[in-house]
Amino acid sequence: MNHSLNTAAVVALRWHEAPDYGRLEMLDQTRLPSVFEYLSYDSAASVAEGIRSMVVRGAPAIGVAAAYGVALEALRLQAQPREAFDAAMDIGFSVLAQSRPTAVNLFWALDRMQRYREQHKQDSPSLVAAALLDAAKAIHEEDVRINQQMGEHGAALLADGARVLTHCNAGALATAGHGTALGVIRSAVAAGKRISVIADETRPFLQGARLTAWEMVQENIPVTLITDNMAGHLMARGEVDAVIVGTDRVAANGDVANKIGTYMVAVLAARHGIPFYVACPLSTIDMSIDNGSQIPIEERASHEVTGFRETQWAAAGVQVRNPSFDVTPAELVSAIITEKGVIHAPDLAKLSALFS
Ligand code: MRU
Repeated sequence: MNHSLNTAAVVALRWHEAPDYGRLEMLDQTRLPSVFEYLSYDSAASVAEGIRSMVVRGAPAIGVAAAYGVALEALRLQAQPREAFDAAMDIGFSVLAQSRPTAVNLFWALDRMQRYREQHKQDSPSLVAAALLDAAKAIHEEDVRINQQMGEHGAALLADGARVLTHCNAGALATAGHGTALGVIRSAVAAGKRISVIADETRPFLQGARLTAWEMVQENIPVTLITDNMAGHLMARGEVDAVIVGTDRVAANGDVANKIGTYMVAVLAARHGIPFYVACPLSTIDMSIDNGSQIPIEERASHEVTGFRETQWAAAGVQVRNPSFDVTPAELVSAIITEKGVIHAPDLAKLSALFS
């Protein structure tokens, strides 16, 4: 069966060249799929707010946005004297670093931008700004390439006709393009396999219902939406052949942090003998932490749990917990799919080898 791919519609971030110094435009993911609107960003603080409020979300996309945030700040400040420029840039980095805690790609991108800044520390602010913009564009382009490589490696794991469950959105919207988990699915479809997707709704922010379902519908990839509590039932009935998710941070031992509810899916997959795959670029693997217990887990506002947008259904004043991510122990991960290949039964030795 031939699927017509409409990838052009699914672009989370784009750089808009302008006569002054350009802008970052980000598709407002808080309003999809009912409203399709790009918002414009011109400083580190505005990009940090876009990340915090989840206009842009998903680990790799957050990293790309942060890189542009640094470049925008440098462009905005380039007419300042050296000392003022340096001091304001330090603040810009720190504001971006505080936007969200779990996705390590944010800190990976900021570290990389900091290294470019170091390399150009003798140059004028305007030359530093130009170099940082080039660096951000390189991170942006590199992410698309990496996702395509991951897709090719991962596609081999999916059989023709596979029914693949995914949680949250690890698609083009969560990256610079193609996606991690959904990138594997896209690549398998492009290779001629008949893949159908089961998208968990992903309470409370509904990334599955609002974003994954929308992405798949855009590209005519068959998708069935379920609420999170239906996954076990479908697995027990033999209606799921594989699970693929993305991740916000992998610890050195292979423990995986991803959207809240992923752990539950991994336990169910193990119970039913269904492979549980995680697709991520090397920039999501944090070799500086031994295991998942050290991954900072973001807690978000209670109104996301007590209702959705303006509609609030829980009793006012009720106590709420809203951890946005959970950790799946490495023993439940069948394989991690990276741009360097597929790592089966990931552990410290295998992940270390990826970086040697
Ligand atoms: O809170 P979000 O929407 O930023 O969480 C996103 C996820 O958990 C994704 O699965 C993860 O970032 C991988 S995206 C390729």
